[in-house]
Amino acid sequence: MCGIIGYVGPKQATPLLIEGLRRMEYRGYDSAGVALYDGEALETRRAAGKIVRLESVLAADPVDGMIGIGHTRWATHGPPTERNAHPHLSADGTVAVVHNGIIENASTLRGALRELGYEFRSDTDTEVISHLVQELYDGSLEEAVIHALRKIEGTYGIAVMSSRDPDKIVAARKGSPLLIGVGDGENFLASDASAILAHTRQVVYLDDGDVAVIERDGYRVIDINAIPQPRVVDRIDWDLAEIERGGYAHFMLKEIFEQPQAIENTMRGRLILEDGTAKLGGINLSHEQLLGIDNIIITACGTSWHSALIGELMIEELARIPVEVEYASEFRYRNPIVTDRTLCIVMSQSGETADTLAAMREAKRRGARTLGLVNVVGSTIAREDDGGVYLHAGPEIGVASTKAFTSQVVALALFTLKLARKRDLSVQRGREIAQALHELPAMIQRVLDDAPKVERLATEFAQTSNFLYLGRGYNFPAALEGALKLKEISYIHAEGYPAAEMKHGPIALIDEKMPVVFIAPHDSVFDKVVSNIQEVKARSGKTIVITSRDEPALEGLVDFEIRIPETVDMLMPILASVPLQLLAYYIAVQRGAHVDQPRNLAKSVTVE
Ligand code: G6P
Repeated sequence: MCGIIGYVGPKQATPLLIEGLRRMEYRGYDSAGVALYDGEALETRRAAGKIVRLESVLAADPVDGMIGIGHTRWATHGPPTERNAHPHLSADGTVAVVHNGIIENASTLRGALRELGYEFRSDTDTEVISHLVQELYDGSLEEAVIHALRKIEGTYGIAVMSSRDPDKIVAARKGSPLLIGVGDGENFLASDASAILAHTRQVVYLDDGDVAVIERDGYRVIDINAIPQPRVVDRIDWDLAEIERGGYAHFMLKEIFEQPQAIENTMRGRLILEDGTAKLGGINLSHEQLLGIDNIIITACGTSWHSALIGELMIEELARIPVEVEYASEFRYRNPIVTDRTLCIVMSQSGETADTLAAMREAKRRGARTLGLVNVVGSTIAREDDGGVYLHAGPEIGVASTKAFTSQVVALALFTLKLARKRDLSVQRGREIAQALHELPAMIQRVLDDAPKVERLATEFAQTSNFLYLGRGYNFPAALEGALKLKEISYIHAEGYPAAEMKHGPIALIDEKMPVVFIAPHDSVFDKVVSNIQEVKARSGKTIVITSRDEPALEGLVDFEIRIPETVDMLMPILASVPLQLLAYYIAVQRGAHVDQPRNLAKSVTVE
């Protein structure tokens, strides 16, 4: 979702702003723009659609300048047109603003500004900020911004420039991430570290309530009362190569193929094979606290919610603690039962999803301890939770989550082992699971080696309009995730269902045109799933069966087979998910879909 970039230094800003915006394309957006100070005035260039359209606008009408801000917008207030694209200038053209988030009292402020004679040129909530800053300017841009922020309700990450105070960018954060990239004789501002990684690894993460003044030779962080805030400089420890495609046609494919390494990294130094447990340094829970947990709530959105469902099954089976999985967006608006003996596990790849963050804050307010399972280091959830387990899956750029999903399930398995071994789980069973985890990367590699088979299979279904995904037990969440992957990137309607539940509705849809994907490895519910496959075959449905060995029971029932290796039941959904990711990917490619940036979706949803 929306991206912000800013630059001040000795170089021409336009190419740096465009490069930064390109690096954030993966987040999802529908228009883009830049504003620069050219030595006399602020100049903006904006375009609806992709960044290449903005580049054409700039090529036709270039702007010089060594300070500037840029933005990719994901429409909330008003359609994705040029006039609604950021930056927004104030009425007299002296102030330019880019903004992520939502100003909740925009209509009140708009009314008040109209009375003062301001005319609005866009449908956005952001435009009120530019006029407000113009109205309140009295010699210092940061003071004007601070005064404006006092009048604003809602969430924001903003960057503001003014031709009346032209050597600085003023940024402010409340609920929408921002960081300063610290360079040598130049400084950057970005909402996402990947936007500036090509130029510096030194970053200062801003906290909610921070206002930053960024100039060529330095930066200052203050609060809304202009009191200086000490902020440490962090170092980004991943490489540019990790956010580039490295020979793969798409980021999604690269990330699917990175899974053996990603989960290896999730487990590194944590898995203790001989004790059948895991060491998780950051959970900040003592032995007594772990034993004292009465119930667990796992809250998340999207793909992370699917990994949470697998976590629920693991924890209840092995640690025998009641677990509830809640969509973060639902959890925050009901009256959940939370006590000081509740552990709230917060799952999020980005660590910035607005609903998930709000759910975590709500759980905290109600007295729960919070544990974040997050991929992005330094993200808001990671900084606000009581304890955490980083996934270490590396940057995930494809909007459709793949390696973060399997890493989340592995992280949940590690946590389950730790919790369960403190309770009833025997050392033998713990060792068996730890050993299975240890062998998992090589098994995923075996599944990936069969990718060409899945690609051939995809050609059969590229023109299909509906899909059903069925699984039971641990593989029901894998069915949901398989269906979500297909929906997200190929725009084919797909539903995931518990296999036996099919007869209570979806069975009505089955005919010779309906492909049904069954996740049916040789596990404790295999025989049950076979009956469900028979029910589909009896109605001429096309069956694609993911299974793990030669099964006489499946004879005559399988139209297309995908083989995966066998592991313990709780880890099977990891292996089953890999061919489902590939199937969705190859179908989307064959349909000519925009795999890495599917329409209307955002990588990190920072609005409610
Ligand atoms: C968006 C993304 C999904 C993701 C979900 C939750 O909808 O498109 O891929 O699963 O947000 O994101 P999170 O970063 O919290 O895991």
